[in-house]
Amino acid sequence: MDILLIGCGKMGGAMLRRWIDAMPARFTTVNRSGRALPAGTEHVDGVDTLAGRRFDVIILAVKPQQIPDVLPAYASLLAEDGCHVSIAAGFSSASIAAIVGDRPVLRLMPNLPALIGRSVNGIYANSACSDRHRDIGDQLARATGTPVWLDSEDELDRLTAVAGSGPGYVFEIARSYIAAAEGLGFSNETARALVLETMGGAIEMAARSDEDVAELRNSVMSKKGTTEAGINALRRDGQLDALLTETVQAAYERAVELR
Ligand SMILES: NC(=O)c1ccc[n+]([C@@H]2O[C@H](COP(=O)([O-])OP(=O)(O)OC[C@H]3O[C@@H](n4cnc5c(N)ncnc54)[C@H](OP(=O)(O)O)[C@@H]3O)[C@@H](O)[C@H]2O)c1
Repeated sequence: MDILLIGCGKMGGAMLRRWIDAMPARFTTVNRSGRALPAGTEHVDGVDTLAGRRFDVIILAVKPQQIPDVLPAYASLLAEDGCHVSIAAGFSSASIAAIVGDRPVLRLMPNLPALIGRSVNGIYANSACSDRHRDIGDQLARATGTPVWLDSEDELDRLTAVAGSGPGYVFEIARSYIAAAEGLGFSNETARALVLETMGGAIEMAARSDEDVAELRNSVMSKKGTTEAGINALRRDGQLDALLTETVQAAYERAVELR
C-alpha cells in the first residue's frame, strides 16, 4: 500500500511514527519545512515532485482552514480504488467531496496520546467507502490507539469536542493544579511530580474499576475529612460542572463552524 501524508506537524508527525512501525505500507510525506521526520519514509517538499505517482491512501493532516488551498493539487494523485483520510477537526466529508469529487473519504479524529499509542480515534466513513477502505481506517486507528467507529459526522464532531481536544483540557487542568500545589509551598518539580502521579494513578484506577467515578470520589471522602473539604471547595455553586459543560460545548460549536 502506498500512502501519502500531507502535513507532518504535531498530530500528523505523532501518528506517522506509529504507522511506520505498525503498518505494511510505504509512506511518502509532504514536509515543506524540512523538519526531522522518522526514518522509513520518503520526504518530498511539494506536489511537483509527485507528478505521475498514484497513492492508495492520501492522508490530510493540515489545519482545517488550509484544506481548500492544499487539497486540490493532490486530489488527482489518488489511485482509482484509493481513499482520502482526513484527521482535520470539523471539516466535513461533504466539504472534502466538494474538492475531490465523489470519492471514498474517511475521517479519523485522533488525540495527541497517539504519540504513545493511546489515542482515542473516532472514525467515520462516507457512503463511497468500501469494506477495504474501512479496514484501512481501522488499521490506521489501531496503530495509534483505539478505534471508535461512528455513524454520523455530528457524532464525530462531538467526539472531537470531548476526546480530540481533550488532552488540551487535561494539560490545562494539570497546569492549574500544579500552580495550586506550588501555592502550598512545593517547588515546581515536586508539585509537577505530585500532581501528575496523582492524576495518572487516579485515572488508571478509575479506568480499571467498574464503579461509577462519583462512587470512587465518595469512597475517598470521609465525613469532615480533608478530601471532603477540598471537594466542597472544588464543587462550589456547581462552577466546575458549568465550566466543563461550557468547555466541550465551545469546542463542539467550533467544530460545527469548521464543517
Ligand atoms: N494537535 C492535536 O491535538 C490534534 C488533535 C486532533 C486532530 N488534529 C488535527 O490535525 C490537523 C493538524 O494539526 P496539528 O496540530 O498537527 O497542526 P500543525 O502542527 O500546525 O501541523 C500542520 C502541518 O500542515 C502542514 N502544511 C500546511 N500547509 C501545507 C501545504 N500547503 N502543503 C503541505 N503541508 C502543509 C505544515 O507544514 P509546514 O510546517 O511545513 O508548514 C504542518 O506540518 C488539524 O487539522 C487538526 O484539526 C489535531
